[in-house]
Amino acid sequence: MSPNMQTRSTTTTAPLSLYHLLDPEVLADPYPLYRRLRTEAPVHWDPYLHAWVVTRYEDVVTVLHHFSANRTPTPEQFTAMGLAELGPIAQLMTRQMLFMDAPAHTRLRGLASMAFTPARVEALRSHIREIVDTLIEPLLRAGRMDVINDLAAPLPAIVTAEMLGVPTSDCDQLKAWSADFAEVLGNFQHNPDRASRTLKCVEEMTAYFRDAIRRMKTEPREGLINALMTAELDGDRLTEEEIIANCIVTMVGGQETTTNLIGNGVLSLIRNPDQLQRLRDDLSLIPSAVEELLRYESPSQHTARICPEDTQLGGKLIRKGQAVIAVMGAGNRDPERFPDPDRLDVGRTDNRHLAFGWASHFCFGAPLARIEGQLAFAALLRRTSNLSLEPGPIVWRENLGLRGLTALRVTFNEQLAPPPIEPTVEHSAGACPFHRGGTGSGSDRIIASSRREGSRRYRSGF
Ligand code: HEM
Repeated sequence: MSPNMQTRSTTTTAPLSLYHLLDPEVLADPYPLYRRLRTEAPVHWDPYLHAWVVTRYEDVVTVLHHFSANRTPTPEQFTAMGLAELGPIAQLMTRQMLFMDAPAHTRLRGLASMAFTPARVEALRSHIREIVDTLIEPLLRAGRMDVINDLAAPLPAIVTAEMLGVPTSDCDQLKAWSADFAEVLGNFQHNPDRASRTLKCVEEMTAYFRDAIRRMKTEPREGLINALMTAELDGDRLTEEEIIANCIVTMVGGQETTTNLIGNGVLSLIRNPDQLQRLRDDLSLIPSAVEELLRYESPSQHTARICPEDTQLGGKLIRKGQAVIAVMGAGNRDPERFPDPDRLDVGRTDNRHLAFGWASHFCFGAPLARIEGQLAFAALLRRTSNLSLEPGPIVWRENLGLRGLTALRVTFNEQLAPPPIEPTVEHSAGACPFHRGGTGSGSDRIIASSRREGSRRYRSGF
């Protein structure tokens, strides 16, 4: 970081850069920096990141809709940069759907969506409720917990193992790999200092999934791996390398983010006691509260794209091939889109936030993440009262893109669970309209179908 980058980032004299996200005061509260960017330079050339930074809601939508996702360097490009040793990382990432454009992306996502059907996600619902109860039950008597380590981290780790169809006893290992790989996904650049650790992680994950695929051939087991191995669309199947790469992106994509949804969400509710009480008084607001918490403290703050051709955006000329960072966390606080955006409102309507992205790369696991979030908040609200922060600092993880806490220690009183609620209104405002438009992507089916099943889902109670 250059010396003048040490100055306070939210003052009017400090150079505007998204790199300030690592300054302690910005890490604690990035929204003043986002506000400054949105008002002073909504389409901003960031000299430190050597990329455009886009912070208005409409511009983020435009970038996610129209710009190229093909942004990860190829092994050949790494070699040309003198970083040939990073080749295996590039090899893996270039096979992941997250970094592809149509038609390769459409094919891969279509096949993967056949494996990740609404029925499969729904089948996990009652099981997720059991997992949440099993995690929370032993903590209740103690009257205190670390929300991250006791609930928000283990829940998606166990659910991910079940979703993949591997032993849940492997979940600590899956979690450790995901945390390592999330460093690559969450930060802007491949960090050569961490190269050996990332390489080891890629090597181990690849060997693990290759082995799991081999074992599935003789002892098939319900789950994403097996479903990806058998998925067929118009005679097309996934190769072993594609299955491995996309199991890894699904495993990583589903863990850190869901942990952060629960951790950031609990913190936001405790910091907004009126909204916490409102939710306690009316648990049928939980689906809309989860959408609002995703908007308010988005687990995934930004993503990147490449400009496909010279483009005018916000009065600036973005050249073909230049990198663009779309800051969903800033778009989600844009007053042009959300009235009173810095207010947490668990009953907010018209909440089409950007937390799951937009358009063809709209989060593949959103239906599952929503179920996990809803059931975790429901259990906490039903089984505890007087939820408060333990004294001590709030420490945010030093990751530029994935916003989350290292720990969240709370105290509470145990409370007998009230009877399950019978919500009647399905909340679906967070769905991506692109997918609802019937564009042919497989996830349309998941979202459309889970919407159809919505009333049944919520009637079953939390
Ligand atoms: C609260 C939790 C989650 C958040 C906030 C989140 C956020 C996102 C975002 C913003 C994107 C789009 C990235 C881009 O356009 O560059 C995305 C894509 C993706 N997510 Fe999630 N995610 C969550 C949970 C999950 C879960 C549970 C899974 C797995 C079951 C998952 C798997 C994926 C995959 C595979 C993609 C790539 C989709 C594609 O490229 O077509 N995510 N997610």
